[in-house]
Amino acid sequence: MQPLSSSATVGVIGAGTMGAGIAEVAAAAGHPVRLFDSRGGAASDAIAGMGKRLSRDVEKGRTTKEQRDSLLARLESVERLEDLASCALIIEAIVEDLDAKRQLFCALESLVAEDAIFATNTSSISVTAIGAALNRPARLIGMHFFNPAPRMALVEVISGLASGADVTDTIMATATAWGKEAVRARSTPGFIVNRVARPFYAEALRALGEGATDVPTIDAVMKGCGGFRMGPFELMDLIGNDVNAAVTQTVYDAFNQDRRFEPSLIQREMVAAQRLGRKSSQGFFDYREGAANPLPATAETGNIPAAVKVYGDLGAADALLALAGDAGLTIERRTAQFPGDGWISVGAATLALSDGRSATQRAAQGLENLVHFDLALDFRTAGCIALAPADGCDAAALADAVGFFQALGKQVSVIDDYPGMLVLRTVCMLANVGIDAVHQQVCDAAAVDIAMEKGVNYPKGPLAWAEQIGLARVVGVLDNLAKIYGEERYRVSPLLRRKVWGESSLFSD
Ligand code: NAI
Repeated sequence: MQPLSSSATVGVIGAGTMGAGIAEVAAAAGHPVRLFDSRGGAASDAIAGMGKRLSRDVEKGRTTKEQRDSLLARLESVERLEDLASCALIIEAIVEDLDAKRQLFCALESLVAEDAIFATNTSSISVTAIGAALNRPARLIGMHFFNPAPRMALVEVISGLASGADVTDTIMATATAWGKEAVRARSTPGFIVNRVARPFYAEALRALGEGATDVPTIDAVMKGCGGFRMGPFELMDLIGNDVNAAVTQTVYDAFNQDRRFEPSLIQREMVAAQRLGRKSSQGFFDYREGAANPLPATAETGNIPAAVKVYGDLGAADALLALAGDAGLTIERRTAQFPGDGWISVGAATLALSDGRSATQRAAQGLENLVHFDLALDFRTAGCIALAPADGCDAAALADAVGFFQALGKQVSVIDDYPGMLVLRTVCMLANVGIDAVHQQVCDAAAVDIAMEKGVNYPKGPLAWAEQIGLARVVGVLDNLAKIYGEERYRVSPLLRRKVWGESSLFSD
């Protein structure tokens, strides 16, 4: 399918954060763009603001004067809705309100050509519901950009029940021509990113609520070990706890209060206390001038070992052995005495990658002084690791476990015996929710990973990550969590189970 011709005029309605960014993207792609806002002067102010930003980009060498001037020449602010009559595509980024969006599109329908396309940048309203008010709902599609639109690569192209297939194809091709990664999704709560990302925040809030460890340690482990660019708490503080809590509540309610998306009481308290994050100078961290924030918990120097014994298959953690070899440790491989995942014996400690049980529960299998460690995005390059000792583990054994990871160059944080730990539990839940979106025909598997990598900068798509861990292990973690908590929240997506039984990839049909 062909994209919209670059000579076609694009209308953008709403000259706020998103509308201004979208107008810039369309103009950068060569379209004449008309920007309208119901607040008089807002559209011209937005274009003036863009001009200032682009001039700074010229100074920094990010763009040329000619590019800036030609982009600005294609942008026009208009003061009447009627001035959008000749637009081939009109994208709205007005207030997030169903009635306002419906009224706007109804008013536009009487002005534009028969084949003009309407797009909504809504992040939470049903595209089907917005389209239902139109005479020709087939012309309406969701075009969900991410903030800041000129820099974020992702566009979710959302089809409502009545959206035309040709309209969807044209908008997919157009978003791609604008230099974006476009993914298709069906209009469902949260679309892809805002649905799949929920566990990133929710699991961190649960870990905090259950006293696994503190805020800075969770963030440090998610970044240093999980490879996420931002920790969940600093990200919630950046988004705003009120905004983040509202998105969670919307998704939860829209899914008929599916426990999988249950909002956090801790976050509700933060909102009640007006600890909204950066914008109120206090959130999970303190942003007031001179405030001292606590540092992540870091273990003192442990016992550096000379040798380790490895029992059974370490799975995703096998890369640790290459590191141990590089650190000069002698490695002895033994067959496992017990079925299931393998473990490493270091001094008096038994080290095993968490499997969704608590270490205390697993130790009852006969593993003495068991210390669980968390999943790393890449065990070779991870800068830190979290350890969780079983209740009966003695202090000397824990020092052996700590020393082993320190010998491998990792900073160690000892946390409470928390089932599934921090990174592993989060990644398994992200993957499970992502796979369930595929199961429910929202989008395909590739779209989930592209959306999470490009829309929220995850270091790896959660589905590819699940395959790296091993799908059977992911199911094992979730089943163990479901048993411990007795909550629906951790139920395994039927598609994930099917892929394990069929020994097939998440990316194959
Ligand atoms: P904003 O508050 O910065 O801008 C909204 C603009 O729309 C304002 O300038 C306002 O004067 C104008 N407006 C309101 N009602 C109007 C109407 N009936 N006709 C014409 N103009 C009208 O809002 P923001 O953040 O840009 O969000 C806009 C839309 O984009 C919302 O639907 C939001 O959910 C969605 N969105 C927001 C993202 C974000 O990070 N801010 C990300 C992705 C989507």
